[in-house]
Amino acid sequence: MPPQPATPAAQFTQLLSATRRGARLARLLAVEQIAQWGWPPDSERAEAAAVVVAELATNAVRHGCLPGRGFRLSLVLLQGSRLRIEVTDPRGDRLPAVSGIADEGGRGLVIVDALADGWGVLPYPPSGKTVWAEVSSVE
Ligand SMILES: Nc1ncnc2c1ncn2[C@@H]1O[C@H](COP(=O)(O)OP(=O)(O)O)[C@@H](O)[C@H]1O
Ligand SMILES: [Mg+2]
Repeated sequence: MPPQPATPAAQFTQLLSATRRGARLARLLAVEQIAQWGWPPDSERAEAAAVVVAELATNAVRHGCLPGRGFRLSLVLLQGSRLRIEVTDPRGDRLPAVSGIADEGGRGLVIVDALADGWGVLPYPPSGKTVWAEVSSVE
């Protein structure tokens, strides 16, 4: 066997409708894919990944949608049991904002921030954005 290049081991991408059902489906598909990649379904990292996908997908549907446009879920399995989650929506003009006040607004991004090693936003030209987060093994 030749030495393996330091490229992502595996990748999953799915376009979903910007509906509650689409957000739910994003979580279900992620759970299934992560299990196929060998993360035990009841492990902390798999549960963290599922919650992060659910929060980012829900945000894409609730805050990042445009009529007639869906959102895209991408999962990339990186070296060292790291999972990169990317949720792309069409509203590059509206960005995630973590609320500083505990009982004002949602807690979704606070939860993402707690569970992920890191997260952020990238432009998705011409007018969309990608919210990404990385989760890794804590076990
Ligand atoms: N994908 C997104 N597109 C546009 N705005 C977003 C997106 N995700 C989050 N936001 C903004 O960041 C805020 C905080 O998100 P979050 O912590 O998930 O709380 P909630 O969704 O309950 O409002 C949202 O209220 C919204 O204004
Ligand atoms: Mg939210």
